[in-house]
Amino acid sequence: MKIIKNISEVKKICSDKKIALIPTMGAIHKGHESLIHKAQEKASFNIVSIFVNPIQFANNDEYINYPNNINSDIEKLKNLKVDAIFIPEIREIYPLGFSTNVDVGQISKVLEGKFRPAHFTGVATIITKLFSIIKPDHAYFGQKDAQQCLVIKKLNDELNLGVKIFINPTVRDQNGIAISSRNKNLNKIHLKAAESLFKSLCLSKQLFEKGIDNTKYIKDEMKKVIMQSYPTKIDYISIANSNTLEELDKIALPTLISLAVWFGETRLIDNILLK
Ligand code: PAJ
Repeated sequence: MKIIKNISEVKKICSDKKIALIPTMGAIHKGHESLIHKAQEKASFNIVSIFVNPIQFANNDEYINYPNNINSDIEKLKNLKVDAIFIPEIREIYPLGFSTNVDVGQISKVLEGKFRPAHFTGVATIITKLFSIIKPDHAYFGQKDAQQCLVIKKLNDELNLGVKIFINPTVRDQNGIAISSRNKNLNKIHLKAAESLFKSLCLSKQLFEKGIDNTKYIKDEMKKVIMQSYPTKIDYISIANSNTLEELDKIALPTLISLAVWFGETRLIDNILLK
């Protein structure tokens, strides 16, 4: 496995190959692994980028506290038979004076964008840079971050970057909790309570399948499931068109049901797609 740190080197290595890119911020877990396995199903040179992108964090504390296990990540990626990893330093990506931002507009302003205003500009900017540097044929992302997927698809289309984007289903633990590097911050009580997120999402699907399409009613029922398991702060429960993220009064397919909920100091997001 090649370990590449410079833009010039990664450009050279990628220039004559069919490339599959899996962008990550490291702390490799089963969710990331599923993207790597999917990428490896196609015969291409697979490259995992590890870059904890400072400009997508809500604040400096969140950035500084982001898990950093680079040695164990390298070991895991070697075992997974990844072809190369790209681990640039901050100044390689954002040299002093860097000032360009990629803003995809309205879909980045709602839901996560409302609670974390600079987040998607940060994501869109780093993904545009990675796509421009590596010029992958394929890139792999997780449905776990549904809004992020929409933002990336939009910038890829609108800037004509020509990357084929693949979205992988959310990987969950045995209790239905979506795997995330943030789960490590949950204590036992919060971990148990966090099971209510997927339960509430499954309930929304069941209600819809029973013929209930009133989104206010469905959201209230979801809220009950979460609050009965653990009284906490819910940033949002959203039932929206899965392409535009416009909120719906009545479910009309395709619909994205998504939520963001706090457990102690940890904020978790999850979603389910009704097609
Ligand atoms: P990170 O959180 O490291 O996630 C990297 C990729 O793994 C993303 O596409 C994410 O959606 C996917 N992923 C995370 N948890 C998953 C799970 N449980 N199941 C399936 N896929 C999962 O997302 C980012 O990094 C960054 O924003 C990035 C896109 C790299 C830009 O900096």
